[in-house]
Amino acid sequence: MSESSQISNLKSQISVGIIGSGTMGIGIAQVAATNNYKVFLYDQNSSQTEKSLEGLQKVLDRLVEKNKIGFEESENIYNRIKFCTELKDLKDCDLVIEAIIENKEIKQKVFADLEEIVSNDCVLATNTSSISITSISADLKNSERFLGIHFFNPAPLMPLVEIIPGLLTAENLPQKIYDLMKSWGKIPVIAQDIPGFIVNRIARPFYGEALRIVEEKIATPAQVDEAMRTIGNFKMGPFELMDLIGIDINFAVTETVYKDYFYDPKYKPSLLQHRMSEAKLLGRKIGKGFYDYSDASQDSRNKNQDNKDEKLFNEIFLRIISMLINEAVEAKRLKLASDEDLELAMQKGVNYPKGLLAWGKEIGYKKVSETLQNLYETYQEERYRQSPLLRKM
Ligand SMILES: NC(=O)c1ccc[n+]([C@@H]2O[C@H](COP(=O)([O-])OP(=O)(O)OC[C@H]3O[C@@H](n4cnc5c(N)ncnc54)[C@H](O)[C@@H]3O)[C@@H](O)[C@H]2O)c1
Repeated sequence: MSESSQISNLKSQISVGIIGSGTMGIGIAQVAATNNYKVFLYDQNSSQTEKSLEGLQKVLDRLVEKNKIGFEESENIYNRIKFCTELKDLKDCDLVIEAIIENKEIKQKVFADLEEIVSNDCVLATNTSSISITSISADLKNSERFLGIHFFNPAPLMPLVEIIPGLLTAENLPQKIYDLMKSWGKIPVIAQDIPGFIVNRIARPFYGEALRIVEEKIATPAQVDEAMRTIGNFKMGPFELMDLIGIDINFAVTETVYKDYFYDPKYKPSLLQHRMSEAKLLGRKIGKGFYDYSDASQDSRNKNQDNKDEKLFNEIFLRIISMLINEAVEAKRLKLASDEDLELAMQKGVNYPKGLLAWGKEIGYKKVSETLQNLYETYQEERYRQSPLLRKM
């Protein structure tokens, strides 16, 4: 394969294949189809594709009702997505984005099969949240055409896309995909192939520390969510967000980041989340997670019947935000991205109300450092170690 032919295909009208029609796959399909691309959507479970396409129809109907798009346009978007029942239906695609289960071996097998089906010019991408791009592609016949294109949930609404070259990716492919994502109206950032990339590395404590607070019975999920929404102005608290992401997916990401950083205690997963995952209490997608979604009329954001203790809420917020700011400062120290991209990534990928570096300045880095020091002295755990840069800021 010549690199140039692989790339030039992307400039003209291309067909996009998507593998996995769950939460992310259908969202990415909507984004591509809205941008006039023909989409081939395949899932090993056809009933999932049917369910997702029904869901998409409802989303498009709502957009028409709200006058965001015209009726004809909504029909065109829907009709651009072709329901595929076999992987080989993706044979003519120029770009395939995989969004299946977060499992390295299963992803590797899908790409090995796909390589036998698509042309040698087809660009292969994974939407993995945390698995090493290099490792997924290492056994491919042609690893140069492989990279990570990481959309955020919900893909049609979250502007950020992390583009992640692996060690074996062709040098100019990330820029081409960067340009393509820009043309889809996205905000792309180029990330390094490290566990969690940018956003999912920095965001780990948003979930991990919240889970820890609940595991220690310091507060309930509803109290933590309310503290983060009211004091931090987060659109969603950690537990609502985990329910939206999927408890299994969020747990798998944490577990991968932890293992891939050679069991760094900072990223230690939560037993509570593990048990929830084992119990298949996976969040919104099954109707029950930390909250119960069986009654559609209930708004999960107003569920805090527990004590609204102001002092407790302030402590919860300060503890979680300090952990997050520490991660952002460490990412800055390690030059994982420019300061500007670090700030952009958290606001455009996971909807944080402010960039974490700016937030650290506002709260005062000294206060953040003291909060972590107190936690360290209380628990005597490496989990609370500070970035060497934090004390200098
Ligand atoms: N959920 C999120 O918030 C989020 C955000 C960004 C990235 N991701 C990543 O996107 C990927 C998909 O996540 P999701 O939340 O959409 O998962 P999901 O569970 O909603 O959907 C996964 C789909 O993949 C299908 N599938 C599983 N194995 C398959 C195979 N071998 N071949 C074809 N289809 C197969 C399943 O039937 C299912 O429909 C994961 O890698 C995840 O880490 C998720």
